[in-house]
Amino acid sequence: MKVTIVGAGNVGATCANSIASQRIASEVVLLDIKEGFAEGKALDMMQTATTLGFNTKIIGVTNDYSKTANSDVVVITSGIPRKPGMTREELIGINAGIVQTVSENVLKHSPNTIIVVVSNPMDTMTYLALKATGLPKNRIIGMGGALDSSRFKTYLSLALDKPANDIHGMVIGGHGDTTMIPLTRLASYNGNPVSSFLSEDTLQKVAADTMVGGATLTKLLGTSAWYAPGASVAYLVDSILNDQKRMIPCSVYLEGEYGQSDICIGVPCIIGKNGLESIVDVNLNQAEKEKFEKSAAAVRTMNGALQDILG
Ligand code: NAI
Ligand code: 2OP
Repeated sequence: MKVTIVGAGNVGATCANSIASQRIASEVVLLDIKEGFAEGKALDMMQTATTLGFNTKIIGVTNDYSKTANSDVVVITSGIPRKPGMTREELIGINAGIVQTVSENVLKHSPNTIIVVVSNPMDTMTYLALKATGLPKNRIIGMGGALDSSRFKTYLSLALDKPANDIHGMVIGGHGDTTMIPLTRLASYNGNPVSSFLSEDTLQKVAADTMVGGATLTKLLGTSAWYAPGASVAYLVDSILNDQKRMIPCSVYLEGEYGQSDICIGVPCIIGKNGLESIVDVNLNQAEKEKFEKSAAAVRTMNGALQDILG
């Protein structure tokens, strides 16, 4: 199984490292426009193969799409990351041009691939990739909900003082500080609602911390995060390549689901060998439905910035 990762920066390289060290794919191609950058990252990673015990071939290339031919999955992380004080929205102009060109280039060499979009603003970039390529909706998947959900579970585990792996929970809606919706009502600790153990105030704080999870890290690091984003992409890619059929909140094109159409936004998805296998209809309560509507309206506003590009 072959995976191409476009953008060998913080997220792309971490993702490649996770995929190789977890033996998710047999071949990973890292592609970047910076001369020698992807080659260097790939070589460095290959030199961990004997100590980490993997056989994945990792190849780095400078803008040579021929080396990406016949990829089963292509991950797009190319673009600029959010800087302190910069909103995801401000990234749109720069990253839209990059995501469109890259999607078109990868399809020339891997016409049957599934594309995972990571570049921000992710929901809008996913929508752009879908419209620009004309691919069916199962083959364009935006990654954001997997990361936001892992942050949610981390904050729940800290509040509960229990292992994160015993906690289940999802974040749906847009991948933005004000648009994501941590589903506190449905989160559980080994099958028990977390509300049995945590006060409403604590749950609200967990939700608030989750929503600014990316911004908190951007402030601390001076650029956006990469370990959890890279690992979250690898988790999603594993579900595709190994047909795991995991339920993962992903940004996908809606045609009436959750009351929305002509938008890509985070909803619970079954992810398998065909990419998006199905969308799961979770029974939201009235308050959650209202939040979802507001989130969709905000994503739609941002998609409006694509008008010039999509015509
Ligand atoms: P980075 O700056 O470390 O890496 C980006 C790489 O893309 C650079 O190496 C750059 O040379 C390359 N690049 C730029 N234009 C290119 C092109 N046309 N073709 C090939 N490569 C190109 O940035 P980082 O931290 O890896 O973030 C990447 C993107 O992912 C950003 O847009 C960031 O906001 C987003 N992100 C999204 C997350 C999500 O959950 N969806 C989580 C974290 C980051
Ligand atoms: C994150 O959530 C900025 O989308 C990036 O870390």
